[in-house]
Amino acid sequence: LKARMIVDKSFRIAEVDNRIYGSFIEHLGRAVYGGIYEPGHDTADEHGFRSDVKELIRELNVPIIRYPGGNFVSGYNWEDGVGPVEERPTRLELAWRTIETNEVGTNEFAAWAKDVGSEVMMAVNLGSRGIDAARNLLEYCNHPKGSYWSDLRRKHGYEQPHNFKTWCLGNEMDGPWQIGHKTAEEYGRLALETAKAMRLMDPSIELVSCGSSSSAMATFPEWEAVTLDHTYDAVDYVSLHTYYGNRDGDSANYLARGMDMDYFIQTVRSTCDYIKSKKRSKKTMYLSFDEWNVWYHSNNADQKIEPWSFAPPQLEDVYNFEDALLVGSMLVTFLRHADRVKMACLAQLVNVIAPIMTENNGRAWKQTIFYPYLHASKYGRGVSLQPIVDSPKYDAKDFTDVLYLDSAVVYNEADDEVTIFAVNRSLDTAMDLDCDVRSFEGYQLAEHLVLEHDDLKAVNTAEEEKVKPHNRGQSECKDGKVTARLPKASWNVIRLK
Ligand code: AHR
Repeated sequence: LKARMIVDKSFRIAEVDNRIYGSFIEHLGRAVYGGIYEPGHDTADEHGFRSDVKELIRELNVPIIRYPGGNFVSGYNWEDGVGPVEERPTRLELAWRTIETNEVGTNEFAAWAKDVGSEVMMAVNLGSRGIDAARNLLEYCNHPKGSYWSDLRRKHGYEQPHNFKTWCLGNEMDGPWQIGHKTAEEYGRLALETAKAMRLMDPSIELVSCGSSSSAMATFPEWEAVTLDHTYDAVDYVSLHTYYGNRDGDSANYLARGMDMDYFIQTVRSTCDYIKSKKRSKKTMYLSFDEWNVWYHSNNADQKIEPWSFAPPQLEDVYNFEDALLVGSMLVTFLRHADRVKMACLAQLVNVIAPIMTENNGRAWKQTIFYPYLHASKYGRGVSLQPIVDSPKYDAKDFTDVLYLDSAVVYNEADDEVTIFAVNRSLDTAMDLDCDVRSFEGYQLAEHLVLEHDDLKAVNTAEEEKVKPHNRGQSECKDGKVTARLPKASWNVIRLK
């Protein structure tokens, strides 16, 4: 296979918003209890949070973490999770049918997030609750002092406000599974009125309106059109969620699923712009892709979990090598839409459909998908450039004209560095890539990282890391041209300096 690419400094899409490398922690399974928090663990800090997990999160450099859900938030009483721990109620958690002890709540999470260097993307409950609970929570978190809720926070030991900037107006309110599921009209009205009250309380916040739970929802994209008709002027972002799986074992088709994500983004973008024109508005609506990942390996095991257990191993997908390739494809898709997608959250971060896994009382380890996420977060900061790509194509079951070469390019002006991210989607053939980089005069090859494996189904475990990157990629940079060999089925990070 042969592919060509032109990369030019002046083909700028937009500055990458680093928050596209965000993630998500929900009160679900072992994400909080046994994941980030395990007081009895050898590495636990004085607040009970695992330091080994914190280290791995710091390595990923996660700019923002969504919290506390997810489906969980639609039945959550945030007041249960603040104040003296011994007085907090144990509840039946209805979204995932488990026990919630409320040992960790908003304040503990805020302090932990600060410690790992992340902002919090806070979600309010618009399922079982509404405007009042949302504005009280905002007052509790962001108001300095001198009011009932802010003084209660101070009494709880948090003198300074958390100043959370980004707030989600509910979660997946289009989904029939959601507690308090709503029609688009019902949600649009409630989201607008909640946004109004929240902004009266704190005008500095940014708000995210719920979009569709996936592009396959029967109500997509009418949901966006109807809800944004209400919320357009009151919010800054609309959310998108998507999860993919290779249920029928068709890897060529699976690796093309980034094209569905691309279509999803394009369609939401167009729908936002339609409402913009309808309202004669000058404002651009941005996208928050605040749940995305592969999720399917654990579906059957989850059916067997005993209801009302505490922190059971739910949604514990063990990711294989091909999942890492698709995660790489999804990341390059965000980069190519850097002008619209300003936030994204890999769902989730620890144990629950996550790049980081833990053993109770034991080790923490890296799943295969840890690596493309790490590389993008590390080298994908700067300006996203539009590569001009000439690649051979294939047809798959659900997609036609799938480019074998799936790529994005980021120019980091501050560090004088250009990075080409490239997935070779061919399952059996290496690709020779010729890349014209003449506008980057004097740049040399710094490194070519590769994630490859002979077995698409290879997985990592606590004992053995079978899938991990190496830096022996075959590339050359000479006379303004990069020539690279991308192994069959591989994720590549070609760095020029
Ligand atoms: O991330 C797991 C779940 O997926 C979230 O709770 C929900 O929002 C989505 O359906």
